[in-house]
Amino acid sequence: MSFDGAISLRFCRGISSLGNRLLSLGVKVLPVAAAVIFHYCAIPSFAAQVEEDAWLRYAPLDQRQARLYENFPSRLVIFGNSSVLNSAQRELVRGVGAMLGRMLQVETEAEFSSFLQTAQRTTERKPPKERFLVLATLAELERLTPRLRPSHELTADGYWLTTADIDGYECLVITGVGDRGILYGAFALLSKIARGENISSVDAVQEPNAPLRWVNQWDNLDGRIERGYGGPSIFFSDGKVRDDLTRAGEYARLLASIGINGCAINNVNANPHVLDDAFLAQVRRIAEAFRPWGVQLALSVDLSSPKALGDLDTFDPLDPRVGEWWSKKVATIYREIPDFGGFVVKADSEGRAGPSAYGRTQADAANVIARALKPHSGVVFYRAFVYNHHLDWRDLKNDRAKAAYDIFHPLDGAFDDNVIVQIKNGPIDFQVREPVSPLFAGLPHTNEAIELQITQEYTGQQRQLCFLVPMWKEALDFDMRVNDEPSAVADLVAGRTFHRPTGGVVGVADVGMDATWLGNVLAMANLYGFGRLAWDPGLSAESIVEEWTRLTFGNNPLVVKTITAMQLNSWSVYESYTGFLGVGTLTNIVGNHYDPAPESSERNGWGQWHRADHDGIGMDRTSATGAGFIGQYPPAVAKLYESLAACPDNLLLFFHHVPYTYKLHSGKTVIQHVYDSHYDGAERAHEFVFQWETLHGQIDDERYTQVLTMLQYQAQEAIVWRDTICDWIYQLSGIPDQQGRVKIRSSQ
Ligand code: GCU
Repeated sequence: MSFDGAISLRFCRGISSLGNRLLSLGVKVLPVAAAVIFHYCAIPSFAAQVEEDAWLRYAPLDQRQARLYENFPSRLVIFGNSSVLNSAQRELVRGVGAMLGRMLQVETEAEFSSFLQTAQRTTERKPPKERFLVLATLAELERLTPRLRPSHELTADGYWLTTADIDGYECLVITGVGDRGILYGAFALLSKIARGENISSVDAVQEPNAPLRWVNQWDNLDGRIERGYGGPSIFFSDGKVRDDLTRAGEYARLLASIGINGCAINNVNANPHVLDDAFLAQVRRIAEAFRPWGVQLALSVDLSSPKALGDLDTFDPLDPRVGEWWSKKVATIYREIPDFGGFVVKADSEGRAGPSAYGRTQADAANVIARALKPHSGVVFYRAFVYNHHLDWRDLKNDRAKAAYDIFHPLDGAFDDNVIVQIKNGPIDFQVREPVSPLFAGLPHTNEAIELQITQEYTGQQRQLCFLVPMWKEALDFDMRVNDEPSAVADLVAGRTFHRPTGGVVGVADVGMDATWLGNVLAMANLYGFGRLAWDPGLSAESIVEEWTRLTFGNNPLVVKTITAMQLNSWSVYESYTGFLGVGTLTNIVGNHYDPAPESSERNGWGQWHRADHDGIGMDRTSATGAGFIGQYPPAVAKLYESLAACPDNLLLFFHHVPYTYKLHSGKTVIQHVYDSHYDGAERAHEFVFQWETLHGQIDDERYTQVLTMLQYQAQEAIVWRDTICDWIYQLSGIPDQQGRVKIRSSQ
C-alpha cells in the first residue's frame, strides 16, 4: 500500500469507526459529516488494502455494480440489544458505508414504530419511500409481523435473509433464532454486496451443517505458536495475555463472518498453568474480545493439571478428589467467563500425560472433565490422536494408522453426552493425501468432530501455495457405507447419521500477528474455506475460492479467474512433487516437516513409514497380508482398498506395498509415475509464476509483489523436491527414468 493510501485509509477507518460509534449510540450523524466520511472513503480500491481485514475489506464498488443497490435501505432498525446485535449493526454500517458510500441511518424500535404508524395513516394516499433494513430474532419478527415466517423452523445459528413488505414499507430482513444467526446473516448480506450479487429479491435460509464449528490455536503462553507460520501469538506474550488484544477482536470478527462459533486459544500440548487462577483472570479479557462476535472461548488442558499445579498427588480420573478438583476449577472459569465453551484434551499422545498412567481409559479421562463442565453447558473435545510413538518399526504388523480406531472404537458408548471425540481427517497426521479415518464410522454411540489442519504444517507451511478445501471436501464427502447405507463423513460428524445430540468441525488455524494472519495472503483462502465448508460441506471448492477471491481481491474477471484456477490446482501441484500415490510424508519428520528427507520417516518409532527398499515401496495395510488397518473400515470401503485392482492410484502406496514396476490404472509403472509427476509438478509450480504475472497492474502492488516472491520461491523449492526425491528413488530402485532426466549424482 502506498503511504498516501495508508494515511487515507487510516483516516477513513478512524472516521468511519467514529461514525459507527456515534451511530451505535443512537446519535444521528449530520449529512455534512457523512459526506466528509464518504469523500475520504472513496479512495481507489487498490489503495484501500488493509491486510488485517482479509476478506472483510469492503472495497468501494464501481459505479456499475453500485447501481445494483440503488434501492438498498437507507435506515437500519434493530430489535433487541446485545453485544452480538451491536456488532451486526456496526458491521452493516461500516460495510454499506465503505462499499456503497452510503451512511445507514440507525433507528430505534420506537422510531421505527412511529414510521409504521404514520404509514398506516398515509398508505392510501402514497407509498412511503423509506426502506428499512430490519434485524430481529424470529420471536421479535413474529411480534412485528406474524405472517412473516421462514419455510421451516430454523436451527440454532441459522438465519433467514429476505425482503418483506411491513406496513407498506419495503424491508430487507435479517432474522434468526438467536442473535448469532442475525450476525451471520449480516455478514452474508455484506458478502453478497461485495461480490456484486443481486439482492433485490433475496430469500436465503441458511443453517449450519454442524452445531459446533471451532478453530484451535496451538499458541504457547510464551507467544510462540506450534506449527504457526504467521508470526507470534495474537493472545499471549512472555507468559501473559497481551495487553493489546485488538487483533484477538479482529480475529473473532473474521471467524464470525464465516460462521465459526468457538476458539480454543492455546496449544493442545497444553501448559497446565493456563488453569492458574491468576492466568484465568487474564484469559477473561480474551473472552471479552470474542464475545461481541459470538465466538466462545475454550482452553486446551493438560490432563495431569490437578497434580501438575501442585494441588493433588494424583490425576487419576477415577479418584473422587480429581473429579472435585475439575469441578472447582471449572466453576472458577465460569465465574470469569460465563459463556466459556469448554476444553480440548490431548492425552496419552506424543508424550502427553494420559489416563493410561492409572490404567484408566480415554473415556474415564474425558468424562471426569465433562462432568465438571456439564452443569455449565460446556463441552469436551477429546482428541482421538492417541498413539504410541515408540512403535517397533521392524514388526510389519505394527501400524500407527490403526491406533485411533483400536483405542476408541471399543469405548463407543462410554463417553458422556457433552464429550465430542475429535478425529483428524486421516489416520496419520495431516499428510498431503490420506484416506479418511475409519473411526468416523466406528462410533455410532459417541459425538464426533472432524479435525482439519488450516495451518499448512505438512503442505508447504504457507510458503508454498496449497489450497486445502478440495482435500477437505474429499474427506467430508467420503461415503463410509456404514451398514451399507449412505453415510458421508459430513453427516457423521454433524451427528445426523447416528442421531447424536451434537457434533462438529474443527480447524487448526494458528493465525499470528503477521498482517496477513497466516503469513501469506493466498493462504487465507484456507481459513475462509474452512469456515464456509464447516457451515456447508455441500459448497463446491470452486465456489468457495471464487467467493474468497472476490472478497479479497475484488471482482475483476481476470483476477477472479486466474486466482481461482491457481488455488484449485495448487493441492495437486504440491502433492505431485511431495507425496506421490498416497505414500505419506517424504519430508523431514524428525525436523521441520518441510524439506524433503524421505529416509527420515523410516527406522524410527514414529510410524510414518513408507517402507521403500530396493524392490518396492508402500505400506501393506491389507487384512490379507499386511497390518490389517483396512479391516477397520466398513465392508464396502474395505473391499475397495483391500483389492489391488480396485484401490485408487492416489492411495495405492498408503494401502499396498508394490514393486516399482507395478502398473497403475493410468498405465504407467509406479517408478515412471514418480519421475513424471515430479517433473510435471515442478513445471506446474513454475507456471504459477507466469499466471500470477498476468495480474500485474490488476491488483495492488504490495500484494502482487508479496505473492510473486512467494511463487518464485516455490518454483525453486519444487525443483529441490523433484531432484531429491527422483535421485533418492533412482538410487534405491536402480530403475532409470524412461525420459533420461534423472541422473545418479555422485554422493560427494
Ligand atoms: C502433529 C504436530 C504436532 C502436534 C500434533 C497434534 O504431530 O507435528 O506439533 O502437536 O500433530 O496434533 O497433537
